[in-house]
Amino acid sequence: MLLRWHDGMSVNVDVIDDEHKQFIAFINNLHDAIEQNNGDEILFKSLSDTRAYADYHFKNEEFLFSQTDYPDKDRHKAQHRNIQATLANISKKFHDGD
Ligand SMILES: [Fe+2]
Repeated sequence: MLLRWHDGMSVNVDVIDDEHKQFIAFINNLHDAIEQNNGDEILFKSLSDTRAYADYHFKNEEFLFSQTDYPDKDRHKAQHRNIQATLANISKKFHDGD
């Protein structure tokens, strides 16, 4: 297990804490798929699932940002775009056989 959720990660919004727990589970699955080297199909499925969940979660989080005066929203949104770009880049490399 690469990441383990703990109370210190809580943002005190239950729906977001739950999504973070789920996101961590996808990242751990992806890590396991890489470590265990169970084949490209499993790895690609895990990568696709992680990307889809990232898109879903970031959209939800950014909607909440828009409803609040959370002061760090621009920097946080930029981090989301960076993570999505990183995952897209990994996915492209995987498709290209790198
Ligand atoms: Fe988040």
